[in-house]
Amino acid sequence: MKKIVIATTAFAAIAALTLAGCASRAPESGTDSTAGASGFAADATIGVALPDKTSENWVLAGQLFTDGLTEAGFKPDVQYAPATGTVPEQQNQINSMVTNGAKVIIIGAKDGSQLSTQVEAANAAGATVIAYDRLILNTDAVDYYLAFDNFKVGELQGQALLDGLKAKFADKAAYNIELFSGSPDDNNAGVFFAGAMSVLQPKIDDGTLVVVSGQTAVAQTATQGWLAQNAQSRMDTLLAANYQGVELDGVLSPNDTLARAIIESVKSAGKPLPVVTGQDSEVESVKSIMAGEQYMTIYKDTRALVAQAIVMVQDLQKGNAPETNDTESYDNGVKVVPSYLLAPLVVTKDTAAEVYAGNTSLEPLTK
Ligand code: BGC
Repeated sequence: MKKIVIATTAFAAIAALTLAGCASRAPESGTDSTAGASGFAADATIGVALPDKTSENWVLAGQLFTDGLTEAGFKPDVQYAPATGTVPEQQNQINSMVTNGAKVIIIGAKDGSQLSTQVEAANAAGATVIAYDRLILNTDAVDYYLAFDNFKVGELQGQALLDGLKAKFADKAAYNIELFSGSPDDNNAGVFFAGAMSVLQPKIDDGTLVVVSGQTAVAQTATQGWLAQNAQSRMDTLLAANYQGVELDGVLSPNDTLARAIIESVKSAGKPLPVVTGQDSEVESVKSIMAGEQYMTIYKDTRALVAQAIVMVQDLQKGNAPETNDTESYDNGVKVVPSYLLAPLVVTKDTAAEVYAGNTSLEPLTK
């Protein structure tokens, strides 16, 4: 545990450097705040619309955006969609950012398929729209996408599940597993699942993996609202219906919150723990990994993602096109959205200290 504490302290130091680094790229306060040819005022309002707080990364992002944008000289308008009435509330929040003259609107969508009217209004008012972490669908009014590569996250989870099964059950030739995915209103949920299935499906087809419940379609595996209680009750039901006298060897879980709920369900049923995947490097899951319970997580450094968003805002302020590193992968149904993708990292008990200590903040994804 000690190593992890040290690594966490190192994170804070790196975060400070990263944010200080981007702050130094901002115009000095007191300098001319009029826009360049196609840029905008150096003290402009920047809107940040985030979804409800379904994982630690969203909580952290809000604070980092408020601090980082302020530090860079902008006026941040950071809003979270409330847990109830989330979609209409987020739509209202974006509308009011447009009305308040935000020059860039950064959106972590609650439901990426229900924001086209709002982002089109934002574009019409001259604001640039950046989809943050979750893609916004079916509109050409999304200017940029900034995220960790979500398909890659799924691939890494699928591969880690296979690796974990082989390591834990060296004597078995086939493994019993169950599959979970995230909330259907979050575009990422399907992307994570597709990435994982690109690795797992061939192993299901050749009999190495057996999904005992038979539930392999994304809709059957969904966890509405990314809520822990929904994953836990589905796992309870799966265990009761399919695992009387049958061993469960592994579970594909799309994130840490759900992984812990799945582990809780298995424990309550009095069964041995399967290999369970995760994502987000949440504190409780890193502890669980070090204690030998959850098998793995994915590290997506929120500080790096927010810092990159602020770099994009600074480029736009100067009238420059922000850098992108992928113009092929993320099609929103109307266009392939120019993307800046960061590389997610796998964390297991064996690699945790190394991955966290060697955190490479702003490394772009190399394919
Ligand atoms: C994010 C994940 C997160 C999930 C639930 C996804 O869109 O990419 O990191 O675990 O939402 O909050």
